[in-house]
Amino acid sequence: LSRIAYVNGRYVPHAEAAVHVEDRGYQFADGVYEVIAVHRSVLVDEKGHMDRLDWSLGELDIAWPMTPRAMGTVMGEVVRRNRIRDGIVYLQVTRGVAPRNHEFPANAEAAVVMTARRIRPFNVETNSQGIDVITVDDIRWKRCDIKTISLLPNVLMKEQAARAGAYEAWMVDGEGQVTEGTSTNAWIVTKDGDLVTRQTDNKILSGITRAAVMEAAQSAGIEFTERSFTVDEAKTAREAFLTSTTLFVKPVVRVDGEAIGNGHIGTLTARLLDLYSAHMDGQGSGKDSAA
Ligand SMILES: Cc1ncc(COP(=O)(O)O)c(C=O)c1O
Repeated sequence: LSRIAYVNGRYVPHAEAAVHVEDRGYQFADGVYEVIAVHRSVLVDEKGHMDRLDWSLGELDIAWPMTPRAMGTVMGEVVRRNRIRDGIVYLQVTRGVAPRNHEFPANAEAAVVMTARRIRPFNVETNSQGIDVITVDDIRWKRCDIKTISLLPNVLMKEQAARAGAYEAWMVDGEGQVTEGTSTNAWIVTKDGDLVTRQTDNKILSGITRAAVMEAAQSAGIEFTERSFTVDEAKTAREAFLTSTTLFVKPVVRVDGEAIGNGHIGTLTARLLDLYSAHMDGQGSGKDSAA
């Protein structure tokens, strides 16, 4: 099966999918994106992703290139044409093609690209394996709430983590507080047992998985606090984990080489992983479809 991409209204072989050299995404990273999980052929938290896309587009003053409903149809078609049962859809909208000038062009039409690929089916057991994170200086801009394709700081910090033998980098702001991972939201269970994740503001992306985990926790009567936490709190935490569309709920077992808890998935993390698993299984059935 050859992969199919969607580019500005056409379904094309992935290998031939291309945009113009003067697409502002290519020239200025002037665009936004979403990554949506496909679980058993169903898009996970589609509405949440479309709402966040609406926010990102609005903040950059890019008009929707099609209705959210049509976007859903195209995503479904990309999933179908690529025969994805478990995987991800990547969706990107840029301001479009125009002669290279920094200010917004008068007549550019937003450009849409979608790709999809398979990933290993979600499995609670393999997802319970912990990962290492390192902490790094958060060198990003002041609008991390927009899901823009401008990801160079994230790329550099993730590479730094990889070179240190870690999976993810937790970024630390000027006040010594952890903001988030390069492509994940950060959570801890403090030494006093409090479940904590940073509040959403301009310093982090409002994760769809984060929101789903909060909702699941709430329904299960698990309390949590939205506040920032320090590197020291993270290192002395009982448990730590991260959330994202592609990693779901993933235990963090070392921070800067220091073991968290007993070095294995924590009790509350395991519980939330189970709840998130149920959340994914409930997709498309009418229940749990909000985000
Ligand atoms: C910087 C950043 N934070 C958090 C997340 C997690 O968000 P979500 O759960 O919506 O995938 C991502 C996802 O790519 C991200 O890039």
